[in-house]
Amino acid sequence: MLKKVSPVDLTDSFEKVPVKIYPDLTTGSIAVAREIADLIREKQKRKLTCVLGLATGSTPKTLYAELVRIHKEEKLSFKNVVTFNLDEYYPIDNDALQSYNRFMRSHLFDHIDINPKNINIPNGEIKKEDIKSHCIQYEKRIADAGGIDLQILGIGNNGHIGFNEPGSSVHSKTRLITLDNSTRIANAYEFANISQVPRLAITMGIGTIMKSKKIILMAWGPGKAPVIKKSIEEDHTEQVPASLLQIHDDVKFVVDEAAAAELTRYKSPWLTGDCEWTPKMMKKAVVNMALKLKKPVLSLTNSDYNEYGLSDLLVEKGDAYQINLQVYYMLRDSITG
Ligand code: F6R
Repeated sequence: MLKKVSPVDLTDSFEKVPVKIYPDLTTGSIAVAREIADLIREKQKRKLTCVLGLATGSTPKTLYAELVRIHKEEKLSFKNVVTFNLDEYYPIDNDALQSYNRFMRSHLFDHIDINPKNINIPNGEIKKEDIKSHCIQYEKRIADAGGIDLQILGIGNNGHIGFNEPGSSVHSKTRLITLDNSTRIANAYEFANISQVPRLAITMGIGTIMKSKKIILMAWGPGKAPVIKKSIEEDHTEQVPASLLQIHDDVKFVVDEAAAAELTRYKSPWLTGDCEWTPKMMKKAVVNMALKLKKPVLSLTNSDYNEYGLSDLLVEKGDAYQINLQVYYMLRDSITG
């Protein structure tokens, strides 16, 4: 479902989508698992099926482990759950070590009471000439199931969601796609060597993902920080597929602190208008400015402070000269050896 965007969207945040930041991937994954469990139970009460869109890769492993725990220890049943996976390499045997079919069995499906008939994963074993009809059928099965209630996503370093590589259309449907070299390199650790990584994959389209009623994108670790910033704070573009989620009306990014590190609220909180000027924060802001302007700290002027968005600090501490000296002494005192 797409969001209506007003012509002038004045927001007091740099973030164009809701973001929830957890201290680490475990707490983040547990929170998402709880949300999924609540949705399944709520649907059970109303005697409805719960349609989940699922991802593979390293990102959702802890989430699936937590769902398995909730199933075993809290007796959550998956009998009313129907699943659709985002993607699968092509060609690949369903039993191959790197197959996403196998991944889903070993991380989730083999440990819960889901009806195998309710599991849908693109098939990497079919003949090339059958791919088109397989993809059309996949879309139809999603529609027949009533659409995806909650889609879980990871994100590639190039911003891909599913295997929708940069340039994928916002209207794209389930299809065969050529993997980016960067994706093949990122996923090479699962294979004996890069030449073994399939060049193709079957993936749900961005249009397919966008039709989900609710979407949660998860990202952990410092490696994802640059693409998380691009997807959340910069204008949406098909060159960064995850940024297209900005136009969905019920999406949330769930990230750990490391993946959030490049967001303005972490990196330059003074720009968000909500910053407490501790000495540490002052040092960080002034050093950043000096580096950006390529000027020594002691040469920064009142206008530099104003133009760099540090007028608040200027008002609070007096003038540039005083702040420069204070930061200079902090830097000097931190020199050891
Ligand atoms: C996998 C998928 C991909 C991954 C992405 C991140 O089903 O859809 O978009 O989510 O490549 O991979 P990891 O989690 O291994 O960093």
